[in-house]
Amino acid sequence: MNNTVLVYATRWGATTETAMEIIRVIKEKFNIDVDLINLKDKKTRNPDISNYDNIILGVSVARFRWAKEGKNFLKKKRNTLAEKKLFVFVSSGGAGDAFKANDIEKYEQLQKKWIDNTLEKFNLQFTSRKALGGRYVGNFADRGDNRDWKVIRSWAEEIGFIISEKESS
Ligand SMILES: Cc1cc2nc3c(=O)[nH]c(=O)nc-3n(C[C@H](O)[C@H](O)[C@H](O)COP(=O)(O)O)c2cc1C
Repeated sequence: MNNTVLVYATRWGATTETAMEIIRVIKEKFNIDVDLINLKDKKTRNPDISNYDNIILGVSVARFRWAKEGKNFLKKKRNTLAEKKLFVFVSSGGAGDAFKANDIEKYEQLQKKWIDNTLEKFNLQFTSRKALGGRYVGNFADRGDNRDWKVIRSWAEEIGFIISEKESS
């Protein structure tokens, strides 16, 4: 078992791809392995996270809500999570649209709405967080994929710096 785990809840797979890229960058730049847990998988719906120091949580935002498995995870694990370093990202097409349009005010507003306010409800604090874009599908597919891989990679590096400092101290 590693010291860091990335736990995620996706609807259509964009969060999975973003998660994989974060893990890849942390391995490449810091030589740190990160475990991966899919909350939609029946076997890992209620994962034991007690032995990890660092938790990266990635959740899909659609239809104006977090994927329910993400919310359930916060609800069930709030006491354990309060003792960890918590990194949170959301796959949010809305935040991605605002970022792409350079509407930073709107972007910050959505980031606060989808991350800060959600964590606040569970009395949790984050070490770092980022609203990342997403990939629209179905009726919204023409809105495309607004993930910015540079932003994703640089946030992964930020996580890597923080967790590697801890590992070597
Ligand atoms: C039906 C539908 C509803 C969506 N609703 C929202 C929304 O309310 N807010 C938002 O920021 N993005 C919304 N999006 C964009 C999603 O955030 C984007 O598709 C994201 O990548 C989904 O992550 P997933 O593929 O991991 O489930 C919506 C997308 C779809 C297809």
